[in-house]
Amino acid sequence: MFRKIALTASALAISASAAMAAGGHAELTDYAFAHEGPFGKFDQFQLQRGLQVYTEVCAACHGLKYVPIRTLSDEGGPQLPEDQVRAYATQFTVTDEETGEDREGKPTDHFPVSGMEGAPDLSMMAKARAGFHGPYGTGLSQLFNGMGGPEYIYSILTHYEENPECAPDGIDGFYYNTSFPNGGVPDSCKDEHGVSTVPGSWIAMPPPLADDQVTYADGTAATVSQMSADVSSFLMWAAEPKLMGRKEAGFKAVVFLIILGSLLYLTNKRIWAGVKGKKVA
Ligand code: HEC
Repeated sequence: MFRKIALTASALAISASAAMAAGGHAELTDYAFAHEGPFGKFDQFQLQRGLQVYTEVCAACHGLKYVPIRTLSDEGGPQLPEDQVRAYATQFTVTDEETGEDREGKPTDHFPVSGMEGAPDLSMMAKARAGFHGPYGTGLSQLFNGMGGPEYIYSILTHYEENPECAPDGIDGFYYNTSFPNGGVPDSCKDEHGVSTVPGSWIAMPPPLADDQVTYADGTAATVSQMSADVSSFLMWAAEPKLMGRKEAGFKAVVFLIILGSLLYLTNKRIWAGVKGKKVA
C-alpha cells in the first residue's frame, strides 16, 4: 500500500516537473508584504495608495466586479471615510437594475467589469495566482514566506524586459515579461525539444506602469516598484478582505487547542494513575 502511494507520488512529481519545463520558467520576486506571516496586517495607507493606482491606471482595462465599493470603508481595508467612498463611487456610471437607466455610482454598487476584452477581472486574481510556485508546497511556505498571488502580480508588473536575443522582434502585439509563464514564445527561443530557452513569455498587457505615473498624496515616491507593491497589496485585500480576521481566529483556535490539549492530557493521567501504576502479572 505504502509503496503504491510512494510510486504515485513520484509519478506525480515527475509529470509535474515535465509540465513545468515545457512551460518555461518564470522569474518571481519574493516581495515582503506587510500582510504576510501569521501576524501580518494590511497596511491601510498602502491599500489606499493601491486603490489609487488601480483607479488611475489598471481600471482603464481591468474590472473588479465582485468587490462592493462600500467595502472601501471597512475596518481592515483601506478604511476610507464614508463621505469619501460616496464621492469615489460617483465617478462610475452604472445601469440601474430597476429602472434600466444610467446613473451615477453609489457605494452599494460593485466596481465595474473589465472595459477591455481579454483583460481579466482582477477581483480574485491575487488568489487565483497564489499556487504558481508549483505543486510541491504544503501551503506553509505561503503562510511564512508569503510567496503567493500578490508576489506574482508584483513580479508581472516589474519584470517587463527588452526582447531577448533569440527573438529581437518579439511577437507582434505582445510584450516580453520574464515573470509571465503562460504566454507565447517564438520558435526561435525554443530548443530542439520545443522547450523555451528564455525565462517567462510574451504577454498581451502593455507595461502599465512608469515611474511617477501617479502622484501619491502622502508623498511616497511613485516608483514602478512602489506602485506595483501597493496595487498588489490592494488586490490581495480585494480577493481576501477578511485575511486579518481569519488569521486572528486561527491564532485563537491554536491557543485554545493547546490549552484544551494540556487539560485533556492531565485529566487522562489522573484518571489512569491508579491503574497504570500497578503491574499486571
Ligand atoms: C491597456 C490595458 C491594460 C492595463 C492598463 C492594465 N492591464 Fe493588466 N492585462 C491586460 C490584458 C490584455 C491582460 C491579458 C494578458 C494575457 O493574457 O496575455 C492583462 C493581464 C493582467 C494580469 C493577469 C496575468 C495572468 O497571469 O494571467 C494581471 C495580474 C494584470 N493584468 C494586472 C494589472 C494591473 C495591476 C494593472 C495596473 C497597474 C494592469 N494590469 C493594467 C490589459 C491591461
